[in-house]
Amino acid sequence: PFKAVVFDLDGVITDTARFHHLAWKRLADTLGIGFDDELAESLKGIDRRMSLQMILDKGGVTLEPAEFDRLADMKNVWYKELIGTMTRDDLLPGALDTLKAVRAAGLKIGLASVSQNAPAILERLGIADLFDTVVDARLLKRGKPDPEIFLKAAAQLGADPADCLGVEDAVAGVASIKGAGMAALGIGKPSVLTEADAVIAGLDDFVLDDYLA
Ligand code: BG6
Ligand code: MG
Repeated sequence: PFKAVVFDLDGVITDTARFHHLAWKRLADTLGIGFDDELAESLKGIDRRMSLQMILDKGGVTLEPAEFDRLADMKNVWYKELIGTMTRDDLLPGALDTLKAVRAAGLKIGLASVSQNAPAILERLGIADLFDTVVDARLLKRGKPDPEIFLKAAAQLGADPADCLGVEDAVAGVASIKGAGMAALGIGKPSVLTEADAVIAGLDDFVLDDYLA
């Protein structure tokens, strides 16, 4: 049985992917770079700077470091405007019940999001106090798919990764979980999250008993 569950945030607990999509598209538009759904999907779970690099690569654009930093900051200003409208109503179906059920069963809960905005989003959603630990994205050397973030979450919880269940909606995130030696529960489509040990469509399909046996 698992002793802890480590959740990703964007796309698992709340749908911030649409805000990232809007903010990146706005940036890509200013650069004259085409931004489609496929590019948006490939950016899920990828940190801010790597995401910008992937957009620039797509457009064949090279920037001076100072301009790169300015654009990454600008995207974040636009993104923060969008998440400033979030409330408890922006929790995805089943998210709150899942967190409460996991806690009630005596398991620890961690957050493994590469978003530097994650703590502010947890506050806006009113769920910050349900987490035993939150990995500080600013201190990561490598983003997903590197296992660093899930290994850190387990260490901060004092849990062996083998005793943890990781929950992720992104291909890069599932790879990070598996690299850390955890079991991976995918949120989305089995045809996309092929490395996951199990896949459900959303947390409203989460049945804790399935993972306690
Ligand atoms: C991840 C998102 O959770 O956080 C990515 O899936 C995003 O799309 C990344 O780029 C970094 O977020 P932020 O808020 O630090 O720019
Ligand atoms: Mg995600």
